[in-house]
Amino acid sequence: MRAASVSDLREMARRRLPNIFFEYIDGGSYAEVTLGRNVVDMEAIALRQRVMRDMTKLDTSVETLGQKFKIPIGLAPVGMAGMYAHRGEVQASRAATAAGVPFCLSTVGVCSIEEVAATGTPPWFQLYMLKDRGYMRELVARAKAAGSPVLVFTVDLPTPGARYRDTRSGFTGASPLRSALTQLRDGVTHPAWTWDLFVHGRPHTLGSVAGAVSDSRRVTDFLSWIGRNFDRSVTWKDIDWVREIWDGPIVIKGILDPADARDAVKAGAQGLIVSNHGGRQLDGVLSSVVALPRIVDAVGGELEIYMDGGIRSGLDVLKAMALGAKACFVGRPWAWALGAGGEKQVARMLEIISAELAVAMILTGCKSVREAGPDLLDRL
Ligand SMILES: Cc1cc2nc3c(=O)[nH]c(=O)nc-3n(C[C@H](O)[C@H](O)[C@H](O)COP(=O)(O)O)c2cc1C
Repeated sequence: MRAASVSDLREMARRRLPNIFFEYIDGGSYAEVTLGRNVVDMEAIALRQRVMRDMTKLDTSVETLGQKFKIPIGLAPVGMAGMYAHRGEVQASRAATAAGVPFCLSTVGVCSIEEVAATGTPPWFQLYMLKDRGYMRELVARAKAAGSPVLVFTVDLPTPGARYRDTRSGFTGASPLRSALTQLRDGVTHPAWTWDLFVHGRPHTLGSVAGAVSDSRRVTDFLSWIGRNFDRSVTWKDIDWVREIWDGPIVIKGILDPADARDAVKAGAQGLIVSNHGGRQLDGVLSSVVALPRIVDAVGGELEIYMDGGIRSGLDVLKAMALGAKACFVGRPWAWALGAGGEKQVARMLEIISAELAVAMILTGCKSVREAGPDLLDRL
């Protein structure tokens, strides 16, 4: 099937992926209130239709932190993508590069920073703060050596929120026996995925942090190791030691409150991502799109402001730009696309969003995304 929309890619992923991975991607924390808000609040924003302007020429590009985006969207860090399609991070990174947008590699990617950099385009690198600071230093140094242009420091996960779907699917907390049986059933019932992952997709480890977890065989063991090793003691002061080893731009990911945004400016960050981790952390917090204008009011002009959470179409991208985002990131849309069919479908997802963005710009009379502002929106 040729996907017409991001929701088609989600359905295709549901069919091709084992249940544990589909639910891991799709789900949020607790009752999934914030996950729902991210999408519903975005839908509730009205675009303002304008007509009879010469819209022959459109400019969808933005430049930020020395990076050129052909459309104002990037692929957000998503853990374990190499379990959704073989060498998933490499495939997604190739699709992003071809579309002229950045790919951000997660600390917990299956492919290591070096493997993704070997595609010829070093990824942005996302850092989780783990207790072992020596290891963290090494990781940052590796990202630098691999040529990563931007370090994304995720701050909204000092401890993981509970995801009920992962417990129910057996992804987390299952006994070794149940895990083995689930894997066997998944393998037999999803032959296309099994062939792709087990013939072309090994090793199934968390590439960049594999050295820190030497006694693990399964990718889920790595995740539980990471879960036990997140560092809750982290403060803004820790940005200082990151600075000692990283001289490039730092983007703080997971800001929802204007006071924290001001602290990010004080800490010397070059950018921040307004984000609630796709509704996967503190359930009940604001949607990203509601938080965004408050943060733009507080620190707009002092650093680059991006957002993620609930972007499902090019129309949503334009709404976020109108509310002051410099660019947006997507998480689930590319993870679903990868699960639906690898690089080809990630490319298709970016093509869909790009085409939708162009139409939204034409029908709102917006010739350049860089000039998008609140005048593109209507009050309901
Ligand atoms: C399956 C999955 C794994 C994720 N893994 C990470 C991660 O390793 N690091 C991180 O900073 N954010 C991670 N996130 C959050 C995304 O970077 C992003 O904030 C979120 O997905 C945006 O919301 P959206 O899915 O509605 O686009 C993950 C999200 C998903 C769905």
